Amino acid sequence: MKQRKKLPMIGAVRRITWFGRLGSLAAWLVACDPNPTYTREIAPLLAERCAGCHRTGGVAPMPLETFEDARANAAAIASAVESHRMPPWPPDQGDSCPPLEGDRRLPEDDVSLLSSWARGGTPRGNGSAEATEGPSSPRWIDDVSVTVAPPEPYNPEPSADTYRCFLLDPALDHDAYLVAYAVGKAQGVHHLHVWSVDDDSQLAKAEELDAASPGGGWDCLDDVGIQARHLTVWGPTDPVRRHPDGTGMPLYAGKKLMMQIHYHHAREGGTYLDLQLADEVAHPADILTIGPAPFILPPRTPETTVQALTVTTKDGLLWGVRAHMHDLGSRAKISIVRKDGEACLLSIPDWDAKWQLMYFFEAPIPVASGDTLQIDCTYDTTSKTEETLNGPTASDEMCNANFYVTW
Ligand code: HEC
Repeated sequence: MKQRKKLPMIGAVRRITWFGRLGSLAAWLVACDPNPTYTREIAPLLAERCAGCHRTGGVAPMPLETFEDARANAAAIASAVESHRMPPWPPDQGDSCPPLEGDRRLPEDDVSLLSSWARGGTPRGNGSAEATEGPSSPRWIDDVSVTVAPPEPYNPEPSADTYRCFLLDPALDHDAYLVAYAVGKAQGVHHLHVWSVDDDSQLAKAEELDAASPGGGWDCLDDVGIQARHLTVWGPTDPVRRHPDGTGMPLYAGKKLMMQIHYHHAREGGTYLDLQLADEVAHPADILTIGPAPFILPPRTPETTVQALTVTTKDGLLWGVRAHMHDLGSRAKISIVRKDGEACLLSIPDWDAKWQLMYFFEAPIPVASGDTLQIDCTYDTTSKTEETLNGPTASDEMCNANFYVTW
């Protein structure tokens, strides 16, 4: 009897163990699946890390919102993530420079997922094939205070580089602060600057330039033509530009804005800005810009470094920095020199003129009167047979830094 009772029990235990093993084998297979599927791993990953820019009407050339989008671009996706071209994030702060907000670099596990899906036959998987919006990719401003666009349409020449200035009227009836903005119809926008025209005599000059030029706005390559207060610069890197919490750029009632756009082979114009404003901020911000004395870069030289600096005259907080060079730039470093030594602020070891963001720090950095803010721009002119001068056109070079500061 004893034996009879025992035997079925042993059998039951064995069965449970066997099914248990099958279950964990299935879980193990899913975890190590060499071919991730679109619906299971890829759609959420593209939504969170790519679709903020790669969406219909977004800043990137093609949307990555559906299974068809992803499949059609699979080879390009694999190559872009394996080479770390995408998502674009040129700074490398290492241990000696402060951490930056919104680091976009993909963890290696995600690079492997995308590349094995793209190179493994792009399986679809089951379930919905729409990429859903990811939490860290705010696509647009939900709370737009005012949309500004040039009053007259302007269509850039598709085969050319065009620098065009426009007056914009936010029609403010009270002073406010710019806390975030998004650029609409931004395809082909290489970069965009915005100023506030606080001085009415400068506004009259801008209106004259506008009236004298046919079509909306006026050409403004070398010189925007007037003096105005710089508010911001944007490149196709940010779906939405948000200033750090508690800060904003002041805008004054009744004053107009001026926008300069560099269109590079743009297929359409109509670029506009969605502005998010606040009535109050704890820290009104200012943009400090530095640039070097005129310089000449020798040809056929792998490394030439140019430096620009300024000595601050006030105490304040530094929230963000941006470096600016053109295509010969190879490396940029922005630093602060205090009484007790030099500290790195931003390091871009492999410069790419396409990605010129204002990078904000995770925590603002104190600046004291007498500290030096400086940029070191390094160029590689091995491809050049003649000297390169500093200047605004694409065949010239520049070396500038912008600092987002509050005093
Ligand atoms: C911050 C905006 C932004 C994000 C985020 C972004 N891209 Fe892009 N992407 C762009 C822009 C802009 C271009 C066009 C670049 C150019 O003109 O050279 C581009 C180009 C590409 C290209 C074609 C050119 C190339 O270099 O191969 C691919 C493929 C691509 N992106 C894939 C991705 C993938 C995959 C992700 C997410 C893992 C991603 N991108 C995230 C903005 C972005």
